[in-house]
Amino acid sequence: MRRFIEFLLTEGYLTKGWVLNRSFLHNIYYNYISNNMNYTKNCNKYNNINIRYFMGDARHTLKSVNLVYDIVFLDAFSPQKDPVLWTIDFLSLIKSKLNDKSVIVSYSKSTPFRSALIELGFCVGKTIIDNKDMGTVASFDNSLILNPLSDYDYKLLLTRTAIPYKDTSLSLSAEQIIINRNNDMLSSDRISMTQFLKKYY
Ligand SMILES: C[S@@+](CC[C@H](N)C(=O)[O-])C[C@H]1O[C@@H](n2cnc3c(N)ncnc32)[C@H](O)[C@@H]1O
Repeated sequence: MRRFIEFLLTEGYLTKGWVLNRSFLHNIYYNYISNNMNYTKNCNKYNNINIRYFMGDARHTLKSVNLVYDIVFLDAFSPQKDPVLWTIDFLSLIKSKLNDKSVIVSYSKSTPFRSALIELGFCVGKTIIDNKDMGTVASFDNSLILNPLSDYDYKLLLTRTAIPYKDTSLSLSAEQIIINRNNDMLSSDRISMTQFLKKYY
């Protein structure tokens, strides 16, 4: 994974044109899909990237995976629509597969996602690209969090909006997870988003 990230950082992905992308994608194709590796052996310099993929519901698959991950990219639709892989319980499962310097990165800026990460003991910050707040990064190592959450983000974490999605059995449907969280929000004595905006803004 480290090599893969170095590759992306040094060579770029979308920005360097079709030749590079093609050789990169061909490497994956000929390593994992076609048996005809000889065809690309001499023309492909990216032959040290290994990809291992798992099919199935990640909530079950990850339980049986005996690996430690340096980086986890979380891109599982949006927490509001499909919270299955954004629950505090699934994040806790991910946590059990990390080391002290691992990072979780996501495009999502969702407050329940961030609050779940904080509840699990992660240091949490933003990913910023071209001065734009693009997503979330989390690690146990605070030195890896380059852009901390803002005062506004932290205040949001005190509202009902920050109540995490839950799925203790790692088996609930998205619909049930949403219904349960709505009930948690209704019965919570935390400040609502409307009260929060009136109070502070
Ligand atoms: C927005 S797409 C991510 C696509 C991918 N990151 C990419 O750039 O091609 C969300 C993916 O999450 C997968 N997904 C959703 N729920 C899942 C689950 N419980 N277990 C495994 N994969 C899941 C979907 O199948 C879908 O491929």
